Amino acid sequence: MLKNNLFLKALEGKSVERPPVWMMRQAGRTLPEYRKLREKYDFFTRCQTPELAAEITMQPIRRLKPDAAILFSDILVIPQAMGVEVELQENIGPVLPSPMRSKKDIQQIIIPDIRERLGYVLEAIKITKELLENEIPLIGFAGSPWTVFCYMVEGKGSKTFSKAKALCFSEPEVAHQLLQKITDTTIAYLKEKVKAGADVLQIFDSWGGLLSPADYQEFSWKYIHQIVEAVAEWAPVIVYGKGTWFALEKMSKSKVSGLGIDWTCTPELARKLTGGRVALQGNFDPSQLFAPLADIKRKVHKMIEEFGPDNYIVNLGHGILPNVPVDHAQAFVDAVKSYKK
Ligand code: CP3
Repeated sequence: MLKNNLFLKALEGKSVERPPVWMMRQAGRTLPEYRKLREKYDFFTRCQTPELAAEITMQPIRRLKPDAAILFSDILVIPQAMGVEVELQENIGPVLPSPMRSKKDIQQIIIPDIRERLGYVLEAIKITKELLENEIPLIGFAGSPWTVFCYMVEGKGSKTFSKAKALCFSEPEVAHQLLQKITDTTIAYLKEKVKAGADVLQIFDSWGGLLSPADYQEFSWKYIHQIVEAVAEWAPVIVYGKGTWFALEKMSKSKVSGLGIDWTCTPELARKLTGGRVALQGNFDPSQLFAPLADIKRKVHKMIEEFGPDNYIVNLGHGILPNVPVDHAQAFVDAVKSYKK
């Protein structure tokens, strides 16, 4: 059994002495020990070498001591496993040299055997679980089908993902075919992650907020919902959508255990929309980590009061920014630990 199960208790809606805390993208961004490894090994070598991925997962745990670990990996290992080339270019980010644009492109996409193509992720989970020595739970994650689709069609990051959106409206059937293939792959992947040892699953829908509320249901939530239905019996699931507060009520009526909230939605509105049915996670603006240390503490305590300490997981509203000073990230975690009900 886990020695620190605050995170699981919060997801189950049980009362806790203080809320648990972790930070989205805590593995592999701010820490100097990560930067060192980054000089030696390229990004996908770091992902594909289980010992390296496990080591990077552990770095923020040893230093910052949050209440959950998240496996170092990326949402784009899914398109790679489906046979699509993905590169990570310095100062640009992910690039897919042959993006999916036509029916023919999408018909060629395979639904891979997870153990064969993503065995390295499963191995990294097993090693990490050993290193964690049952101290805290391990989160396994995937991108939402919509967010992965955005990269597969656009071919790179974008503020608007206009090519991905254009495909949805010019050839909706083709778009749905690709979304379904990503969904089927993701379901098999997340089940294998739980079998390998992941205690909790999180789905990142970073680009959900690019869609109108009605389009969100059709192109994003429909597929996330399939995943949640398929894996909720395997492990608690958290769905994080950026800019998708409008869908919170519907999401809270599914089998999710937790919902991630970004900083554009107030704790009060998020609680109102979700009616106590699920745990909420968030929603500190990552830029506020640049505030003086005393302000971070004060703001974190205020946020806990606003969400209420139960049914709540303290987190940022999106990933930690790479240039946040380590002592400021530490102040965030420590502020939660000093909170008294
Ligand atoms: O703690 C963790 O976050 C675990 C590992 C993790 C990474 N990516 C490692 C990574 C996770 C959970 C992700 C998720 C991810 N990847 C998302 C969804 C979450 C979000 O932040 O919106 C998205 C959209 C991606 C796609 C992606 N991968 C982008 C846009 C980039 C480049 C910019 C950046 O740093 O995020 C990547 C590369 C990537 N993935 C890095 C890391 C540590 C940077 C690699 C480096 O430059 O060293």
